Amino acid sequence: MKVTAAILPLIASATASRLHGTSLLPRSADGTVDVNSFNYTNTGGPLTWYGLSKTNSACSEGKHQSPIDIVTEDIDYAAASSIRFNVPSTDNAKFENLGSGLEVVLTNGTLVAGNSSYKLAQFHFHTPSEHRINEEYYPMEVHFVFENSNNAIAVVGFVFELSQFGYSTPLFDSVFAHIDDIATPGTYTKTSHLDFTALTAHLKSHVHGLPHHPPCSEDVAWFLSTEPLPLNVQSYNAVKHVLKFNARYTQNALGQDNLLEVAASELN
Ligand SMILES: *[C@@H]1O[C@H](CO)[C@@H](O)[C@H](O)[C@H]1NC(C)=O
Ligand SMILES: *[C@@H]1O[C@H](CO)[C@@H](O)[C@H](O)[C@H]1NC(C)=O
Ligand SMILES: *[C@@H]1O[C@H](CO)[C@@H](O)[C@H](O)[C@H]1NC(C)=O
Repeated sequence: MKVTAAILPLIASATASRLHGTSLLPRSADGTVDVNSFNYTNTGGPLTWYGLSKTNSACSEGKHQSPIDIVTEDIDYAAASSIRFNVPSTDNAKFENLGSGLEVVLTNGTLVAGNSSYKLAQFHFHTPSEHRINEEYYPMEVHFVFENSNNAIAVVGFVFELSQFGYSTPLFDSVFAHIDDIATPGTYTKTSHLDFTALTAHLKSHVHGLPHHPPCSEDVAWFLSTEPLPLNVQSYNAVKHVLKFNARYTQNALGQDNLLEVAASELN
């Protein structure tokens, strides 16, 4: 059997791709939908995120920012293969439009990675993908954001590839069933029944590890599946219509100087 992908673990930094719902970026207590102050357009975009808050300096100085280009031949597959991802099925989860993101609020779910046990905070989507794999981008990416009792964050991500057979992992058809109802930032709807069994099975065979979004906190444990999930064209177009564009530009390789610092030094 040909192994086409893997789970690689990376510890990277970054604005942990959207930390909403965690202790770093708590959800509003009154049940309303928080609309993000950062975005991906003009002066609200990722080149200026570091200026949004004093806590965002890692966006311009961090050397372990996400997203990155993942070079599959450098992946340490063994380190990621031991993670345990478990999200029980659920009915009617809240699905919110945060302006610069679409997020499913679901806290029933756990991740065991290394010696740490994390609890799910939410999962959210990016179009196009944020990470690249051997330089190639994908039309969409989903991030499951977890936090442990020490407020450390771990993210499990999957990229999507359009299916020539019009097929999607049924879980995501259920998530997007009523997406047209949340075209306006600040609105929410409910998903259909969500069953994570197929996703968990997919992850068992394929993962990589690494992070980003304001705050660009580093020390986020990342696990990204390098084997794409199938997505049908109708769902993709519906998501893109609402989500528009929310991918941070590809960051420098882990451990290398932040590209904003490199660019500033070139100007001098
Ligand atoms: C993005 O943020 C900037 C700065 O706050 C704002 O001027 C702009 O209108 C926002 N654009 C979108 C598409 O939200
Ligand atoms: C979360 O799990 C609890 C306990 O099993 C259950 O009662 C609750 O309905 C679940 N919540 C969701 C949104 O599925
Ligand atoms: C987990 O804990 C064991 C025993 O304390 C330790 O030897 C091991 O290095 C730890 N593993 C990780 C990934 O932190």
